[in-house]
Amino acid sequence: MKDFQDMEPCILVIFGATGDLTQRKLYPALVNLARQELLPKPFVTVAVGRREKTDEEVRAEAKTAAGLAKHPSAKDRHTASFINNLHYFRMDFDKPFGYQKLRTYLNGLDEIYGTKGNRVFFLAVAPHYFGVIAHELHHHGMSKGNHGTWQRVVVEKPFGNDLISARRLNQELTEAFGERCIYRIDHYLGKEMLQNIMVVRFANTLFEPLWNSRYIEEVQITISEDVGVETRGGYYETAGALRDMVQNHMLQLLTLIAMEPPVALDADSVRDEKVKVLRSLRPLRPEDVGRQTIKGQYSSGHLNGRPVVGYREEDRVHPDSEVETYVALELYIDNFRWSGVPFYLRTGKRLPIRSAEIVIRFREQPGVLYFGKQPNSLGPNLLVVKIQPEEGIYLQFNAREPGTRSSITPVRMDYCQSCILGFNSPEAYERLLTDCIRGDSTLFTRWDEVEYAWSFVDNISLAWEQIGQQTELYPAGSWGPESADRMLSNNGHSWLFPFQCLLTERPVLERV
Ligand code: BG6
Repeated sequence: MKDFQDMEPCILVIFGATGDLTQRKLYPALVNLARQELLPKPFVTVAVGRREKTDEEVRAEAKTAAGLAKHPSAKDRHTASFINNLHYFRMDFDKPFGYQKLRTYLNGLDEIYGTKGNRVFFLAVAPHYFGVIAHELHHHGMSKGNHGTWQRVVVEKPFGNDLISARRLNQELTEAFGERCIYRIDHYLGKEMLQNIMVVRFANTLFEPLWNSRYIEEVQITISEDVGVETRGGYYETAGALRDMVQNHMLQLLTLIAMEPPVALDADSVRDEKVKVLRSLRPLRPEDVGRQTIKGQYSSGHLNGRPVVGYREEDRVHPDSEVETYVALELYIDNFRWSGVPFYLRTGKRLPIRSAEIVIRFREQPGVLYFGKQPNSLGPNLLVVKIQPEEGIYLQFNAREPGTRSSITPVRMDYCQSCILGFNSPEAYERLLTDCIRGDSTLFTRWDEVEYAWSFVDNISLAWEQIGQQTELYPAGSWGPESADRMLSNNGHSWLFPFQCLLTERPVLERV
């Protein structure tokens, strides 16, 4: 990361300071930023929670969360300054009187530290608090900047549970802060390789001329997780994979792959292009949904050699639940560039490995030169964007197999970014926090993106209800329902993931 000298002093106010997100993601990210001197000077953090705590207690929590307790050698003066500038403020989020005191408290910190009245309010709380916190901050004069100060609010997902609830929430937030000061997090956008997609596409001569339906046969986007719903059964019962993963992360990946070059790299130009993709998505009609969507749920099985329970046996999950933990979709973008190219999306829990990849499969060259009149195939060129756990780009092409007269074999060029950067690759939240402090909203979702994504996803859930779409069980540790394979084979395609499999398959093509 660079170019951070443009950061103005501010106070980061974290609502939900004792919660999971703060402990697992925010404290570690902030400590990493502090260590690299990527936080503004001065910078103060106020953790807001409902329990009684002292400043010393939250400082100890932050140290533990960021692994400082285990690695005392990691203590440097920048980290120490972040920890010393961390304070705790107790209040009930839904009681107005706490907000007046909070305001006085923050103004007092401005006097002490010189943070100049700038604020980032990070709402790491249950979604039903988003609206009330925004309203009370507004009501108590903390949502609008004056005398050159700025106030921003960061909201985590889920941003609503459907289009109607998202609209309601958006109205509450915009009444308080205004669109330009709302930072809606989709943590996938903070991942390194997502930021690389536009660069690879638009900074190379190699790919962009081929990036269309004339040369691309299909696109596959997979986010697989080996974990189940863990402690989030209650939430998941109201969401399912379609709302939890497709509405946000999956559609964001799709927009980055499919968008047109923006006129500039500013937030609005980039997001204008992403919105156009969402607007061009062909809505699925009830008669398409049976063919183009698969809804699955994990049953008990084995993962990493250990038995695991099925979704219906998980904590706070209904024993007859039909909620999907797996979704596969066949989508089409009806615009000039992508007409007729299938985009296959799939995501699921309790799949064999944790991985996220995008595979671009190019159309094959005619094999006539090598195979004569025999119907045989040369094998496709593939471009694979590896998002996690490995970060990088893999390009597969055909070459002559060494030592043979004329066998053709797929070979690869593999750029492994994570091998080069190793542990220095910044976590998504590090990037997102610094962008918000700098006032750059490019990697946050704009309201119209959220709105189109919800409307697309709502349409699928409604169609599922109308046609009574079955939730198919798949054993934990498998790659999901077999019908997802059939969905692709109906078009002459098959899942090309994980890309590691391609190496072991080694489909060497002999000359006939
Ligand atoms: C979250 C979902 O948004 O993303 C979780 O709510 C999911 O269900 C998680 O596990 C996956 O994120 P990552 O970064 O681990 O791939």
